[in-house]
Amino acid sequence: MNYEIKIFKNAKLLAEQLAKDFQSLSQKFISYKGNFNVALSGGNTPKLFFRELAENYRNKIEWSKINFFWSDERCVPPEDKESNYGMAKTELLDKVPVSKKNIFRVHGEGNPQIESEKYSSAIQKILPNDNGKPIFDLIILGVGEDGHTASIFPQNIELINSDKLCEVSEHPVTKQKRITLTGKVLNSARFIFIAATGETKAKKLKEVFNERKNNASIPVKFIKNESGKLYWYLDREAAKYL
Ligand code: 6PG
Repeated sequence: MNYEIKIFKNAKLLAEQLAKDFQSLSQKFISYKGNFNVALSGGNTPKLFFRELAENYRNKIEWSKINFFWSDERCVPPEDKESNYGMAKTELLDKVPVSKKNIFRVHGEGNPQIESEKYSSAIQKILPNDNGKPIFDLIILGVGEDGHTASIFPQNIELINSDKLCEVSEHPVTKQKRITLTGKVLNSARFIFIAATGETKAKKLKEVFNERKNNASIPVKFIKNESGKLYWYLDREAAKYL
């Protein structure tokens, strides 16, 4: 795999570097092409990162030139505590001068199949396309304890190779419906940042980076980003077995 691993003493220092790298990358793309197309991850890990951006980068990023998407979304209303968009709105989007027309949330409150198709259409309309693949400038991902990323789980790992841009997924334990970007889109980004913190991720990450162990049931292992660059941001707890 072509990637770089950055390890930090703790989650706060990781979030600070992630924010710094986000700002630098956004400036490069905005200077080059006038905008920055990013897909945010969900879950809890990005919270510190969003707070760092909101507190220290309000006036250091051209927020109105960023198009915000999500790597995946839970099929719940935006005000639900489970909503990835809802968390990003509370922790970041309501605190910085983003342009509301540049926020492309998945409508988790709607019919999953219909909303998945509408989200695919929005992605195709807004993003540049290379040989049928929409190209994000940056996709930020997390990793689950089972090795899932976005909402591609070991139980539906075939979504990595789907020929669609988005698919309806389902959490294997809660059976919660999700809408997720597929591997086709994830691996076409110019940059991917994967962030993982905490000891609960350590054992799975040991498998992920054990290239001798071709464990085909670990979705994040298939995030290779053939066309771009992949950076892992880990704190010491998550990286303890590396
Ligand atoms: C989601 C995420 C998912 C997340 C991992 C890690 O919707 O849950 O997109 O892929 O990144 O589950 O979650 P934590 O950051 O909460 O550990």
